[in-house]
Amino acid sequence: MELKRGYFITFEGADGCGKTTQAKLLVEWLNKKQLNNIFTFEPGATDLGKSLRQILLHYDKPVANAAESFLYLADRAQHVQGVIKPALLENKIVICDRFVDSTLAYQGFARGEDIEKINFLNKIATSGIAPDLTIVFDIESEIAQERLGKEKDRLESEGITFHKKVREGYLKLAQGEPQRIKVINANNSIEEIFEQVKKLVGELLNL
Ligand SMILES: Nc1ncnc2c1ncn2[C@@H]1O[C@H](COP(=O)(O)OP(=O)(O)O)[C@@H](O)[C@H]1O
Ligand SMILES: [Mg+2]
Repeated sequence: MELKRGYFITFEGADGCGKTTQAKLLVEWLNKKQLNNIFTFEPGATDLGKSLRQILLHYDKPVANAAESFLYLADRAQHVQGVIKPALLENKIVICDRFVDSTLAYQGFARGEDIEKINFLNKIATSGIAPDLTIVFDIESEIAQERLGKEKDRLESEGITFHKKVREGYLKLAQGEPQRIKVINANNSIEEIFEQVKKLVGELLNL
C-alpha cells in the first residue's frame, strides 16, 4: 500500500520495558501489510553515532551531565539528517527506538538538567522534526531491572532511584502532551502489549 506521507513513530520507556521486542513485532506486522517502513534507534544508528554510542554506554570515567546531553544530541542531529528525514521524505513509516523524550526523561527529569534547555537543544538537533506518535511503555522499575539481567551498560547500571525518576519523567511528559504521547502498561504480556501497539498505530495510519 502506498502512503501519502511519511509517519514518524517513536518508542520510549526504561531499558527492559520491551521496546525492541515490540518494534520487531510492529515491523513484521507492517511488512505483512506491505507498508514501507524502517526500524531505527538511538543512540548509534549512524556511522558517527556508533562512536558516540560507545562513549555514552561504556565510557568508564565520570561524565558531566551537560556533556552526556550533548553527546546524545550530536547522535540525534546526525541520525535525523542521515536516516530519519530521508526516510520520511520517501513516505516511509519510521519506527525509532528512543528519541527526544529519552533526553528529557533521563538527562532532564532523572539527572536534573533544565527541561526548557533540553527542549531548545532538541529543536536544534531535530531541525523541527517531531514524532506523529510516541508510545511510552510504562513498567515498574524493579520488573524492568529483572528483565535486563546482569549485563548492564552505563545508564542501566544507575540505581533504582534514578530509574524511578526516569519513569516519573515519562509519565509527566505524557500528561503534558496527551495527543502525541500514549502510555501502555508494559507489565503485561508481550501479546497484550502488542494488541495495544497495533491499535495505536492503526489509528494513526487510518488502517
Ligand atoms: N511483556 C514482556 N513480558 C516479559 N518479558 C518481556 C516482555 N517484553 C520483553 N520482554 C523481555 O525482556 C527483555 C527486555 O526486552 P527488550 O525488548 O529488549 O526491552 P528494551 O528494548 O525496552 O530494553 C528481553 O529479554 C525480552 O525478551
Ligand atoms: Mg532495546
